[in-house]
Amino acid sequence: MAVDTDHLGTRIRLADLWADPYPIYRELRAREPVAWVPAANRYLVTRHREVVHLEKHPETFSAAERDSLMIRVMGHTMLRKDGAAHARERAAAESVLRPRTVRDHWTPIFQRNTDDLISRLYERGEADLFREFAGPLAATNLAAVLGFRDVSAADLQEWSQAMMDGTGNYADDPQVWRRSETAARGVDDAIDAVVPYLRRSPDSSLISAMLHAPDPLSIEEIRGNVKMFIGGGLNEPRDSLAVGAWALLRHPDQLAAVLADPSLWRKAFEETVRWVAPIGMYPRQTTREVELGGTLLPAGARLGVVLGSANRDEEVFPDPDRFDVSRRHNNHIAFGGGPHFCLGSWIARAQVSQVAWPTLFGRLGGLEIVPAEPVRLGGWVFRGVLNLPARWRP
Ligand code: HEM
Repeated sequence: MAVDTDHLGTRIRLADLWADPYPIYRELRAREPVAWVPAANRYLVTRHREVVHLEKHPETFSAAERDSLMIRVMGHTMLRKDGAAHARERAAAESVLRPRTVRDHWTPIFQRNTDDLISRLYERGEADLFREFAGPLAATNLAAVLGFRDVSAADLQEWSQAMMDGTGNYADDPQVWRRSETAARGVDDAIDAVVPYLRRSPDSSLISAMLHAPDPLSIEEIRGNVKMFIGGGLNEPRDSLAVGAWALLRHPDQLAAVLADPSLWRKAFEETVRWVAPIGMYPRQTTREVELGGTLLPAGARLGVVLGSANRDEEVFPDPDRFDVSRRHNNHIAFGGGPHFCLGSWIARAQVSQVAWPTLFGRLGGLEIVPAEPVRLGGWVFRGVLNLPARWRP
């Protein structure tokens, strides 16, 4: 059989992307910046300039992907809509996540949650900071932002993971569908439990905002978007928290610089999400035939917008594989671009760089990675550390 050796994309295996996508991305950027990758069943767009370009043209590069598994799992959320339908749902949630609201309202809540969690771990002198700190903290913070009551961090993490696995269930595994359907029912029940109260007594939460917006969302719309907030607002802060803590612990000179100048926490955050983009790839679909990065795409072509690669594009970032908090002009696109630019970017920055890291490194003296158990990383659609065994002096 003739193997298409001229086309790099045809040789790419998902398992290799999962293990370490960066060498593959480097080659794609150099040789085939818009490449058909049969294993992913889409064209991968790997250079910064094409990603920025396509986000400026949402009429040609649509977020409303055909046969979207996300829609199957979560319902039709704002993330899979274009134009006015998208703008209406986004507007209903926006006020809750603005920088000033984040600073005045949410940051003190994130600080309380962080202090509580660290107090519970402190005496032990060791923990897996990924599983026992980053995950539960991101979940507890998100529960508050959503307006949930009596939902445990463990439930929220299970729902998030089960629904994310569902949105990636291209193998059509019935067990994965069952778990994601159970999760979706759990979310619907949690929404039903708070809606009567929030209708009577509006508060600062997302569910309240969507109920009381000038153009309020229906319960069906709220259900879909809350699922999307759980899928997109938990794992990413968790992963940036854990990856950044790990990177700083591995670079003591950079950690010392940040501890000496707290204004650098923010730069450490931007560098962390550039270096390992928590959302490594998201989908788009062409609405017409169009040329992109030298490749002619037919109408209806499915694209993978590879932020994990664009953020390491050597044309934009000198020495891109290096973690460097002092990097100048960090023009990363870890939060996307265009109409779907991440709504939760200020929430993420506040909880990770203003609260979690300064509290973690401030309270846990002598914090270090336990050398016996290597830190593992995985993923390309979503990427982060999978464990972070650490110890400190109680
Ligand atoms: C480091 C943390 C985070 C990263 C790297 C991140 C990244 C992204 C990216 C790349 C997108 C665009 C996806 C696309 O266009 O298909 C996005 C959209 C979105 N994000 Fe985030 N996100 C983070 C945290 C959060 C948090 C904490 C929340 C909410 C509490 C959130 C809520 C959303 C929402 C609602 C959208 C969809 C916006 C729309 O469709 O208009 N994100 N995020």
